[in-house]
Amino acid sequence: MIHEGREYIEAPRWADIGIVVVVLIFYWNMFATYMKGKQTGIMTVMIADLLALAGLYLTGMFFTDNISMDQFWWWWVIHLWVEATWEVFVGVLAAYALIKLIGAKREIVEMWLWIEVLMLFGSGVLGLGHHYFWIGTPEYWWEIGALFSALEPVPLVAMFVHVLYDWGKQQGAAKERGEAGSVIKNGPAMTWIVLNAFGNFLGAGIWGFFHTLPQVNIYTHGTQFTAAHGHLSFFGAYATILIGMMYIGIQGAYGVKRMKATFNSKMGVFLTAFGVMGMTIALTIAGYEQVLVERAELGATWNAFFVAQELPWYIQGQLWRAIMGVVTLVGFVYLVVDMLTIGKKAQQDEAQAA
Ligand code: HEM
Ligand code: HEM
Ligand SMILES: [Fe+2]
Repeated sequence: MIHEGREYIEAPRWADIGIVVVVLIFYWNMFATYMKGKQTGIMTVMIADLLALAGLYLTGMFFTDNISMDQFWWWWVIHLWVEATWEVFVGVLAAYALIKLIGAKREIVEMWLWIEVLMLFGSGVLGLGHHYFWIGTPEYWWEIGALFSALEPVPLVAMFVHVLYDWGKQQGAAKERGEAGSVIKNGPAMTWIVLNAFGNFLGAGIWGFFHTLPQVNIYTHGTQFTAAHGHLSFFGAYATILIGMMYIGIQGAYGVKRMKATFNSKMGVFLTAFGVMGMTIALTIAGYEQVLVERAELGATWNAFFVAQELPWYIQGQLWRAIMGVVTLVGFVYLVVDMLTIGKKAQQDEAQAA
């Protein structure tokens, strides 16, 4: 009735069906709007990507009492969401944001987007293999998972370069035209979009690559190292872009031409990013200790699992993780306050200037 007991996709059957109905209505709304409007490259990628994204949800709805088979399909949802379809969605949002925020050229942004789609799907789909090392699937997944998942950071580097390149290019072009000041029309949104490009690369690309080869994963699998990667990637790739989009939405809702970062915007971005990075480092240290003591030294026994969690490096790691969690939370409060007030402030500033 309440949950299904499968991490991340806990919704019970009745809620599963509700979700499917709601998603179908949402998708129809998007699709009909797309057919009526201008079918730009960005919109085409989005409509196709959302179809794949919604379809993948169905693969998590099979019932099977074989745990290997259950895990096999479960990863289709989890991995193919975060490392293929959601990443493409990030590419779509970032492309739109770059046009909106700094006036990037649509042709250039869309060309990058097609390349990103190719690289993300090219590496991410078979990169699925990095979850099939130890769940009872055939051993050929070791090679497939290692090769394709090791390529996954490549598009993330490209996306990072792309954002910085476009920004520099637009700023340079404005300077040449003799325009003073920044090309950025929405300070806080741009900060979060740049943070997205970097956080995606760092959390998914670097922290993901760390443990993606089977030779490494055999030691790190399911340790706090995984939790470190999970936090930095979810924050870096997805929290950041959504916050950026919300700031764009606020600017639109208040109808202001320019929105500058306030003290609250700066505290919000600094404390949340610093806090999540601190949590990640603390969890990485705790995970490192588990790898050394639990896995390497004590041979990954049931007893070793508990022994490793009683040692100082682990306990202090988790303590710092909690402290950094509080820092993150304080940053979040600043962020919420900022979102509730920045629009009005930008309106007043504009009225004063006129
Ligand atoms: C934004 C993209 C990503 C997100 C949100 C993400 C998130 C996660 C999460 C939450 C887990 C834990 C799953 C569990 O509960 O077992 C996980 C596991 C894993 N991720 Fe990612 N990830 C991303 C990208 C990547 C990339 C690009 C790589 C490799 C280059 C990677 C490599 C791995 C590996 C190897 C595991 C398995 C860890 C283990 O064996 O315990 N991830 N990821
Ligand atoms: C106040 C800050 C936070 C605290 C105290 C916190 C706490 C936790 C705890 C205790 C777990 C379970 C870890 C385990 O099973 O070993 C967890 C897992 C997770 N959290 Fe957080 N969290 C925080 C912020 C965030 C943020 C900002 C994100 C993403 C934007 C996030 C995403 C996740 C994910 C994806 C997992 C699953 C990771 C895995 O299974 O490997 N958390 N969190
Ligand atoms: Fe994955």
